[in-house]
Amino acid sequence: MDIRTNIPLKNYLTMKLGGSARFMGIATTPDELAMMCRNAKLQSLPFFILGGGSNVIAKDDTYNGIVIRNRILGITVIDDQPMHTVIKVGAGENWDELVKKTVDMGLSGIEAMSAIPGTAGAAPVQNVGAYGQEIADTLVELEAYDAQQDKMVTLQNNECGFSYRHSMFRGSQAGRYGIVSITIKLSKAAPKPPFYEAVQKYFDEHGTSFFTPGVVRDAVIDIRASKLPDPKKLPNSGSFFKNAIIEDWQYQDLIKTWPDMPCYKIDAHNYKIPTGWLIEQLDLKGMLLHGMRVHTGNALVLINESAQSYSDLAAARNEIIGKIRDTFRIYIEQEPLEM
Ligand code: EPU
Repeated sequence: MDIRTNIPLKNYLTMKLGGSARFMGIATTPDELAMMCRNAKLQSLPFFILGGGSNVIAKDDTYNGIVIRNRILGITVIDDQPMHTVIKVGAGENWDELVKKTVDMGLSGIEAMSAIPGTAGAAPVQNVGAYGQEIADTLVELEAYDAQQDKMVTLQNNECGFSYRHSMFRGSQAGRYGIVSITIKLSKAAPKPPFYEAVQKYFDEHGTSFFTPGVVRDAVIDIRASKLPDPKKLPNSGSFFKNAIIEDWQYQDLIKTWPDMPCYKIDAHNYKIPTGWLIEQLDLKGMLLHGMRVHTGNALVLINESAQSYSDLAAARNEIIGKIRDTFRIYIEQEPLEM
């Protein structure tokens, strides 16, 4: 096992900011991952499992623990039925290569989550989602090393505490589990309308009326390329804020002042408000705040243009959160995990 010390984290995070990790190792098997977590515990140190680094930001101080880069691979069909296929995926597999593979197999369920950077094992942590699909819809179970019990466990979908961009892995149980594989169930039925608004609009504009997982994937890749910056070219962590969930009374109150405010009713009492729209109303779209550029394609995304450190990013973040709180009385949350 090769453990290195004092490794600059910015080389491993798409935001290209932050301090160093005291220890860093690569796990290629569940046993290696368990051993590294166990060793950390023996030294009373935390561990952090890193996938593609596309949804994680690091503080400027040294991370006083071990960062474990997950390279556990393998994509295996474990059940193939007339209407569906169940696939087990090593947590270190590249997410988009997995999506491509399943789309090439004619399977539906994750095709709208095409072109999302990162690894398969990171997907359940923030319940990755895009264009009407989220991993919680297709995940059957996952395997993880449980540092509390010091053993491998299998957790069913309903044990993961999924909600919008959230799970227990980043919430109540943060720091406890190291995910080593995910098992997903995908459908052999063709994707059917109605599609997510932006995808439907794309199909209408392109006169598309024959839908396959591949057609949806190609549309999503095109839409994303027009709205979201490529982290390989412009350092960013995708959506930097979650969309806001507000209660009915607050929504009724806000539309008196902001009659054009877009919203999605999520249940009888709650509405989802696009945070990108809130940021736009503050005239922040395209602005440079402490070296962070509010992306013109989607104001939810912050691009590290010239920030020197995490504290620049935090200053930009706090300014945006504060302005939204003062203007709308809505408290928005950061989406990337913080280590
Ligand atoms: N909007 C604006 N201005 C903006 C951005 C959005 O007015 O700058 C409003 C528009 O009304 C638009 C609506 O927000 O119709 C929705 O916008 P979009 O479809 O671009 O999605 P989003 O809510 O901004 C979320 C996810 C994205 C995901 C897209 C598509 C979150 C935090 N973000 O963004 O996920 O790709 O939906 O499904 O939920 C990510 O998590 O990193 C990510 C990119």
